[in-house]
Amino acid sequence: MVQRKAAYPIDSIFLQRWSPRAMTGEELSGEKLLSLFEAARWAPSSYNNQPWRFLYAKRNTKEWDVFFDLMVEFNQSWTKNASALVVVVSKKTFDFNGKPAQTHSFDTGAAWMSLALQATKQGLVAHGMQGFDYDKAKKVLNVPDDYNVEAMLAIGKQGKKDLLPKELQDKEEPSDRKKLSEIAWEGGFK
Ligand SMILES: Cc1cc2nc3c(=O)[nH]c(=O)nc-3n(C[C@H](O)[C@H](O)[C@H](O)COP(=O)(O)O)c2cc1C
Repeated sequence: MVQRKAAYPIDSIFLQRWSPRAMTGEELSGEKLLSLFEAARWAPSSYNNQPWRFLYAKRNTKEWDVFFDLMVEFNQSWTKNASALVVVVSKKTFDFNGKPAQTHSFDTGAAWMSLALQATKQGLVAHGMQGFDYDKAKKVLNVPDDYNVEAMLAIGKQGKKDLLPKELQDKEEPSDRKKLSEIAWEGGFK
């Protein structure tokens, strides 16, 4: 088991957040879910354009199957116990002049991280996913052409490892990171 350790002092929330797959299959109150999107709402963005959009489906609703069917089988094998599924979308243009917004994905990434940290604070899991059909998502969710489908999220209450298919149980632990010197340095690339 990796023991997450920070090389320099940071708030413990950054180490506490991780992406478990085992979830309990409980329903989540609308209020708790809205707190996650509320955290995302306060993220910074270029020109305060707030390009992030969160399309969601709660479990045991008719929208759930639409979102669930977007994912590859691997992700379906564990998200079947999630409380909510989210498709994260970003607007590619500025509201005020219609011109391309260079940082729409960057800004939306910041918003998703706010959501993930708020989930950790609330004792919930928010797990990002690339494993789904982007074209299908665009189509079935009526995503307009000036929006980009970025990622999906599975949100839920963390459950015991043995809720997972056998092959995923061994992988159910927090991961480590590259050394700080590999990701940040003075000046340009050498
Ligand atoms: C945009 C994005 C896409 C991801 N796609 C998947 C996915 O399709 N399936 C999956 O099981 N995990 C997926 N992950 C989870 C990553 O593997 C995980 O975040 C990474 O290994 C770091 O681990 P941690 O989040 O536990 O710190 C994704 C994460 C992100 C941010």
